Amino acid sequence: MTMGSDNGLRPVNGEITRTHLRHVVESQQFTVPLLMELFDRSHEMERIVRRGGTLDYQNKIMATLFYEPSTRTRLCFESAMLRLGGRVISTEHARAFSSEMEDEQVEDSIRIIGGYSDVIVIRHNEEGGAKRAAQVSPVPVINAGDGNGGQHPTQALLDLYTIYRERSLEGLSIAFLGEMDKGRTARSLAYLLAKFDRVKIYFVSPPELQMRGDILDYLDRHGVRYEIEADASKVIGEADVVYQTRIRPDRVSDQPGLKRYRIDSSVLAKMKKNALILHPLPRTVELDKTVDGDPRARYFQQARNGLFVRMALLTMVLE
Ligand code: CP
Repeated sequence: MTMGSDNGLRPVNGEITRTHLRHVVESQQFTVPLLMELFDRSHEMERIVRRGGTLDYQNKIMATLFYEPSTRTRLCFESAMLRLGGRVISTEHARAFSSEMEDEQVEDSIRIIGGYSDVIVIRHNEEGGAKRAAQVSPVPVINAGDGNGGQHPTQALLDLYTIYRERSLEGLSIAFLGEMDKGRTARSLAYLLAKFDRVKIYFVSPPELQMRGDILDYLDRHGVRYEIEADASKVIGEADVVYQTRIRPDRVSDQPGLKRYRIDSSVLAKMKKNALILHPLPRTVELDKTVDGDPRARYFQQARNGLFVRMALLTMVLE
């Protein structure tokens, strides 16, 4: 595959503008040239991982500070740093095992940890927690997910990279299924998709869990077409990408209607033959295990791509 050859991502002047990247807090901060550079680097990281990694970052230390549980994001970032030759210090259960138990503020924690490391990856339980950290940090801060309904920009970057490897981003049609109101991955990806022409987004969710107005206003301002839908079967056949997200049954008032937001064999039959099925994981009831064997399923590759994208991101913030 020739990266960037036919994906509608070339900047107007044909050159990739190098932009210094300090903190990674929200998706809106990424320009198309910056995404292009990130994806080119991610592709290069795939080659580096195939040959066992590099020692280029052996003098660098990454701190991971997680106030919420994580399997993928934390271990992926830690693996990324180790593949780059760097070192890792970690607090995986910061709410219980950091001095914030003793009412220390996140700002003070960050000032201290920033003195021990070259980059901090933080997952905070409060919306805006990563931004607060970035405002005082002496080193780059990367948002690994903040609050219920905040953002998860690095997940969105690896989601977009997964799509970009196989589809044109211009003219893309994508259906988001699940909890939209608190879905920080869907929120972050919607911001990124708004940067590309002729994108069409379907938000499929129970009415009480639909996408919040801040994202819809942003899409309106950027001329992005979208539809709000309560039944996946009505739009699933239109989508090039089906982005399934978690749905917690106890949040849905119409219990019999839950099946409208989950993928199983009957939904698979209605999808485009070449659609891509993504899910940020972890999953519960919304993605049947029988989907794993479908040739359109990409969610395990998607998680794997996170390694390359996060390696690339670390190289960019550590420059
Ligand atoms: N996709 C994702 O953020 O997974 P974790 O919660 O396991 O990090």
